[in-house]
Amino acid sequence: MTDITLSPNLSRLFVTEIYKADLTGIAGFNDKIDELEDACRGVADDDVTGQDWCQKHSYLGYTSYGSVEDISRHATVFEELKRQLDIHVNSFATQVELDLSNRKLKLVSMWVNILDQYGAHSGHVHPHCAVSGTFYVSIPPGASAIRFEDPRLPQMMAAPLRLTSSRIDRQNFATFQPVRGTLLLWESWLRHEVLMNLSEEPRISISFNYA
Ligand SMILES: [Fe+2]
Repeated sequence: MTDITLSPNLSRLFVTEIYKADLTGIAGFNDKIDELEDACRGVADDDVTGQDWCQKHSYLGYTSYGSVEDISRHATVFEELKRQLDIHVNSFATQVELDLSNRKLKLVSMWVNILDQYGAHSGHVHPHCAVSGTFYVSIPPGASAIRFEDPRLPQMMAAPLRLTSSRIDRQNFATFQPVRGTLLLWESWLRHEVLMNLSEEPRISISFNYA
């Protein structure tokens, strides 16, 4: 452990880092995103258990979370996505300097989300994992953003809010609008939510956990 050297005025400590990549820039992968969209719809069409769960829990749309153990059995294009995810998750872990003690992060779950108009997903974390993220397959006009929450919020008690004009990394909530082909990664303890989807067309994404 090393003592830190503080800057003369302000120093930045305890950062929260979020990783973004645009997979449309990868040679040959743009077409794969269309394939992924078909594959996501295929998983939804075939998964009666998941459809029943969504209906029973008033989920506006479909999620394969908890009902389809291995979506790559439905289409090999999910394997191709996994190959990209492995590269980016490794890059993220290296850049934020996670000490993995010579072990590798491994994909432990991957699921499809098809959010219909007015659907949302309230704030949550992904327990028992190290890195989580989402790949955005179809983001039609009006499709909802993702919002991250300052993990220190429960400790803040009577702390004043930040000015709405304050720097984004000083605010307690950070909203980001993905587009088709965006990949986002974050550490699994970071609380996040999907805001209400206002697009008439479904918002399609694939989420995953690495442990
Ligand atoms: Fe999530």
